[in-house]
Amino acid sequence: MDDLFGGLDTTNEEMADGAVLLRRFALDKADDLLSDIGTVMSAAPLRHMVTPGGFTMSVGMTNCGQFGWVTDRRGYRYQNTDPLSGQPWPAMPEVMVSLAVDAAKQAGYPDFKPDACLINRYEPGAKMSLHQDKDEKDFSNPIVSVSLGLPATFQFGGLSRKDAVRKYPLVHGDVVVWGGPSRLFYHGILPLKEGTHEKTGRARFNLTFRRAVL
Ligand code: SIN
Ligand code: FE2
Repeated sequence: MDDLFGGLDTTNEEMADGAVLLRRFALDKADDLLSDIGTVMSAAPLRHMVTPGGFTMSVGMTNCGQFGWVTDRRGYRYQNTDPLSGQPWPAMPEVMVSLAVDAAKQAGYPDFKPDACLINRYEPGAKMSLHQDKDEKDFSNPIVSVSLGLPATFQFGGLSRKDAVRKYPLVHGDVVVWGGPSRLFYHGILPLKEGTHEKTGRARFNLTFRRAVL
């Protein structure tokens, strides 16, 4: 039986051992999150980073928190300054910290203390190819991933790139947490479909919270 809240499906779904989809978990904080995303973007603008292989990413990115994830021709890494400005990344707003900590707790990770938040902005057509999150120092911490705005299709596979992937539709307010046995599972986002969302317009935002450093 679905757990219905205000007519919305808020059923949680176990995706794999250690991985759970918390439907609409961020919904009541979504407006505050979006307003804080705007503040972060005005200090540290979105940019399309280049992969070590020389491809420009279709997703616009920035960061907040003590560390930010970056890529350029030299590789993928975390750094405590924005390469565009040389300044520290904007601090992680309190509403983001508390949401990430609460979601991790709900998913069975009570000790999560994020020090990095990657902000991804997708326009229709943008995608994130299948990859592992493995630039962090310690894989005992989970990944907490929040969806806002336009819907997207999340692909979640296994430890090998060749493993079968399952597809999960993600909508405004959904949170995916993966850690433990699934911490290094391959995942990605299919090309975003055309559309407009009442809160974000022609865009999807994703917040990815991580513990980058010990
Ligand atoms: C990522 O894996 O870095 C992003 C996932 C998403 O946009 O939901
Ligand atoms: Fe990722």
